[in-house]
Amino acid sequence: MMNRAPKQIDVIVAEATLEAEGVVSVKLVAADGGDLPPWDAGSHVDVYIEPGLIRQYSLCGDPRDVSSYRLGILLSELSRGGSKAMHALDAGHRLTIGAPRNNFELIETAQKSILIGGGIGITPLMSMAIRLNQIEQPFEFHYCARSYRRAAFLQELMQEPFGYRMWGHFDDEPPQMFSPDVHLAAPDAGTHLYVCGPTGFMDFVTGSALALGWAPERIHTESFNADAVDETGDTFTVHAARSGITVEVPSGRSIAEVLFDHNVRIPTSCAQGICGTCITTVIDGVPDHRDSYLTDAEKESNTEIAVCCSRANSAKLTLDV
Ligand code: FES
Repeated sequence: MMNRAPKQIDVIVAEATLEAEGVVSVKLVAADGGDLPPWDAGSHVDVYIEPGLIRQYSLCGDPRDVSSYRLGILLSELSRGGSKAMHALDAGHRLTIGAPRNNFELIETAQKSILIGGGIGITPLMSMAIRLNQIEQPFEFHYCARSYRRAAFLQELMQEPFGYRMWGHFDDEPPQMFSPDVHLAAPDAGTHLYVCGPTGFMDFVTGSALALGWAPERIHTESFNADAVDETGDTFTVHAARSGITVEVPSGRSIAEVLFDHNVRIPTSCAQGICGTCITTVIDGVPDHRDSYLTDAEKESNTEIAVCCSRANSAKLTLDV
């Protein structure tokens, strides 16, 4: 079976701290008392909150610190249980998380980096700022929030050695609001832009950057919307090579569901392209990747697919199941 389950780690909540209205930080330590797996700036972990409920949170601490992980969590008004459960955590609570994954890698050799976070989207950028400061690379760090009062981690960031690189932009203080024409003007080939936040915010910043002449390959984004994955599209054929069956996958149904109907069982967990449980080897064909688990490089290699949500850009896919 070429399906691969992600590594899981048992952790304990060491601290849960209210950072601002609606935002907590949670410090996790390994349940066995040892070090946690190494990670790099921009990484996130999957948190297995309860069966069928998995959420991704960025690591927002110092990437050199493997004695604990720190997460920042916004209580979502639209919470379907994830952020509410995370906000209810107390010290001593046990959790299972996935090993860190990075779909938002920092290019440490860039001549300059501009980090722009909207609201809780600040969290992966915090680890990037800490790292860039460690390796003495120039950067600007823009924090956009509805109000100063709701800007979690701002005071802490201002007190870091890189505090003088911080820019605060608040909707209730118009003179300070982020302006692409001012802050993203005159892009040069050595500068990379990192944007994380709500979808509308990211669309605004990246759209503005492109209009100002930024090259798409120098704009890096990450979003953690737990929206339902779009499973619509043309019908395609899947051949399960080792099982010896061929099925048709219609619009609105996943490969995993259709194969399950034919007694080919691929383990799934989140069914949203988040956790990696269902990742399966592709022998032939071109996937239409709709997950947020595989990295861009993994997606481009066309060698693996999240069968809980992804579809096909070729008429037929052959899978190693
Ligand atoms: S089941 Fe989680 S990525 Fe497919």
